[in-house]
Amino acid sequence: METFSVNIPLLKSLVSLATVIEAKDPYTGGHTWRVSRYARILAEDIGLLQDEVFIVHFGSLMHDIGMVSVPDPILNKVDKLTNVEYDIMKKHPETGLMLIRDHPLGVLTLDMVASHHERFDGGGYPRGLAGNNIGLFARIVAIADTFDAMTSARPYQRGMPAEIAYQLMAQESARQFDPLLLSAFLNLGQRGDLDHILGHSSDERLMHSCSVCGPIIVIPSRWQMGEQVVCPKCLGNYDVHPDGGDFEIEWDGTLNPAWIPQPDIDTINEVAIYAPRELRLSSHFLELSSCAL
Ligand SMILES: [Fe+2]
Repeated sequence: METFSVNIPLLKSLVSLATVIEAKDPYTGGHTWRVSRYARILAEDIGLLQDEVFIVHFGSLMHDIGMVSVPDPILNKVDKLTNVEYDIMKKHPETGLMLIRDHPLGVLTLDMVASHHERFDGGGYPRGLAGNNIGLFARIVAIADTFDAMTSARPYQRGMPAEIAYQLMAQESARQFDPLLLSAFLNLGQRGDLDHILGHSSDERLMHSCSVCGPIIVIPSRWQMGEQVVCPKCLGNYDVHPDGGDFEIEWDGTLNPAWIPQPDIDTINEVAIYAPRELRLSSHFLELSSCAL
């Protein structure tokens, strides 16, 4: 075992960089938070140790940092990507790896950044790894990431109901996904243990729908009475009305072209709250992480 110090300001600055991805893509509001929660719950459910659960949480926040290199027209394209565009998109795990490999905390996340698009059957990218040659944490993030992509609105699709996503994912057992991890995840879903994450942007905050662009509006947890929220896609201004424990929103008929995306402070702070100040890492873990390089 080796001890590994977690410097909290460094941790928060790195996660801040990862949340920049959400500022680039109007459809990713809450995606990073949801993926981290799905991954964390799955990691806890299969009995990982507390330090390992933290690493999964942290790595799932970082997993798509390489998307920063994908040009906006590709990121936000409504139609099917061309082969060339898809090849550019597929570089993001390797780009992410290059971005964080020399960061003092990067070693904790390398495997998840590099391998979250590998498939259990070996048909994924970038390296075509198969089965247990894909790191355990990356196999967890792959499930969490795919489930959120299927159930969230994207430029080219409305999010599908969770039940349909569970059925489609079950067909990918031992193909796209690790069968044991997938089985645990589907059990969590069937028990309703994921419902409080689905369609949310943070604890107790549901995503809300722009009448034109779909359910992509986030009401920040620090929202105050009288403040408007803005659709990140069409920049429509929405009035917010508290409605029981939730909110209703209503377009006021104007646009706010001066609006700029807000940082996801809650997600950044949350990982810092969960972070142990010192991790005990097995040499096996460090070995596996360096395999991602
Ligand atoms: Fe990705």
